[in-house]
Amino acid sequence: MIVVERATEEDLLPLFEIDRAAGHPERAAELEEAVKTRRAYIARDQDTHLGFAVIKRDFFGYPFIALLVVHPDYRRRGVASALVAYIEKTCPADRLFTSTNLSNQPAQALFERLGFSRSGIIENLDDDDPELIYVKRLKRD
Ligand SMILES: CC(C)(COP(=O)(O)OP(=O)(O)OC[C@H]1O[C@@H](n2cnc3c(N)ncnc32)[C@H](O)[C@@H]1OP(=O)(O)O)[C@@H](O)C(=O)NCCC(=O)NCCS
Repeated sequence: MIVVERATEEDLLPLFEIDRAAGHPERAAELEEAVKTRRAYIARDQDTHLGFAVIKRDFFGYPFIALLVVHPDYRRRGVASALVAYIEKTCPADRLFTSTNLSNQPAQALFERLGFSRSGIIENLDDDDPELIYVKRLKRD
């Protein structure tokens, strides 16, 4: 069963390992800062760490999912969906933003499947690979 929680210092090594396996060995300091400031979420199944997400709290005043990474061995099992569902549930705002590169078809398919809509494009971040912004309006009780 996939369980999502806010990540703690004890999750740091697994976070580094997932990011390294996904091709990003260079983000350790960023992940450490995210855990310290309580902006990181970890998905696990018992003792196995499956994936993580990092949010930023101020994308033009709104929460923004900045990183969403699932270990390559555990993809297409609902891990990213579980992380996003947890972030939505605990989101203090009425909308949640995220983004991905134009070249990233899996992420675009994921965000569309989870009910996000396109909300603009930012050029000139990565060369020749625009950043697509997505938003989801959240229903509040
Ligand atoms: C994108 C990513 C986070 C998806 O994680 P995941 O745990 O595999 O996603 P889920 O299992 O929750 O997928 C839910 C749905 O999204 C869509 N989807 C996810 N990955 C897909 C892919 N590779 N191709 C097509 N559709 C995909 C499907 O509709 C899927 O449902 P299905 O498996 O029943 O068809 C993962 O591939 C990843 O870590 N990629 C590298 C990092 C990245 O690109 N992050 C996102 C941008 S910050």
